Amino acid sequence: MNSIAGALAAARQAIPIADARLLLRHVLGAGAAWLEAHRDDLLPRSAAEAFAALVERRAGGEPVAYLLGFREFYGREFSVTPDVLIPRPETELLVEIGQKKVGASDTVSLLDLGTGSGCVAITLALELPQARVAAADISAAALAVARANATLLGANVSFVESDWLACFGGRRFDVIVSNPPYVASGDPHLSEGDLRFEPPSALACGADGLDAIRRIIADASRHLEAGGWLLLEHGYDQADALRELLAATGFVDIEQHRDLAGIVRVSGGRWPGA
Ligand SMILES: C[S@@+](CC[C@H](N)C(=O)[O-])C[C@H]1O[C@@H](n2cnc3c(N)ncnc32)[C@H](O)[C@@H]1O
Repeated sequence: MNSIAGALAAARQAIPIADARLLLRHVLGAGAAWLEAHRDDLLPRSAAEAFAALVERRAGGEPVAYLLGFREFYGREFSVTPDVLIPRPETELLVEIGQKKVGASDTVSLLDLGTGSGCVAITLALELPQARVAAADISAAALAVARANATLLGANVSFVESDWLACFGGRRFDVIVSNPPYVASGDPHLSEGDLRFEPPSALACGADGLDAIRRIIADASRHLEAGGWLLLEHGYDQADALRELLAATGFVDIEQHRDLAGIVRVSGGRWPGA
C-alpha cells in the first residue's frame, strides 16, 4: 500500500502536482491542510484506485472541473458537467458590470442569454435579491444543470429553453447580459487543452466567431426597455467589431470594459427607446 505522499509523487509524473492534490482531496473528501498533515498515512486500496483513475483521465486531457464536478465562480461552487461550459474567472467582469447597471432599483428585470451552468444568472439573482432574473439556453441538458445549481444555491431564476430571444415574445428587460459563444469555428485552440472537452456549441460561432453576437445585438432592441442595457462578453480581439455593431444598430452610451490584464472583454450599450 502506498502513502499519500507516495501516491502524489507518482501522480506528478503524469499531471501537475496542484491538479493531483485537488483530485486526491476530492477522493478522500479532505481539505488541503488535512492532506498535508497526513502525508505519511497509507492510502486505502479503494481510494488509491479511484485516484489512479482520475489521474489517468486528467493525463488524457479532461478538465479538472469536470473530474471534480464543480467550479468556483464569484465565491460560490457551481456544479458542472460536460454539457456546460466551465465558468471562467473573466466572466466575473460581466457580472460586476451587470450589477452596476441595476444599482438600487427595486423593480429591475434581467435576462442572461446562453446561461450554461447558470453561473451568471444565479450570481446576479443572489447578489441582487430585488431583481427578477430570467435565463435562457438552447441546450436542454445545460438548463438541467443550471436549474440544479439554482436550487442548490437557493437562487430564484426562471429558466427558458430558447434559441437566443426567439421564445421571449414581447417581453422586455432592463438589462440583458450574455457570454455567448465567440470563438471562430476554425480557431486551432478548439482542438487544444480543456476546450476539446467542452460543448462545441458553447464555444464556436461562425467564421469570425461573431454570429451569435450579431444576432443578439440585432434582436435585443425588441426586448429592452427604453434606456435598458445590453452587455456582452467577447473575445480579446473583438472589441472594435462590438463597438461598430452596437453603434450601427442604434445603441448609445457604448461602454467597453477591460479585464485585469487590461484587455477589453465586455462591451455594451444603452437602448434609447422610441
Ligand atoms: C460561452 S457559453 C456561456 C455559459 C455561461 N453563461 C458562462 O458564462 O459560463 C455559451 C452558452 O450559449 C449557449 N448557446 C449556444 N447557442 C445558443 C442559442 N442559439 N440560443 C441560446 N443559447 C445558445 C450554449 O449552450 C452555452 O451554454
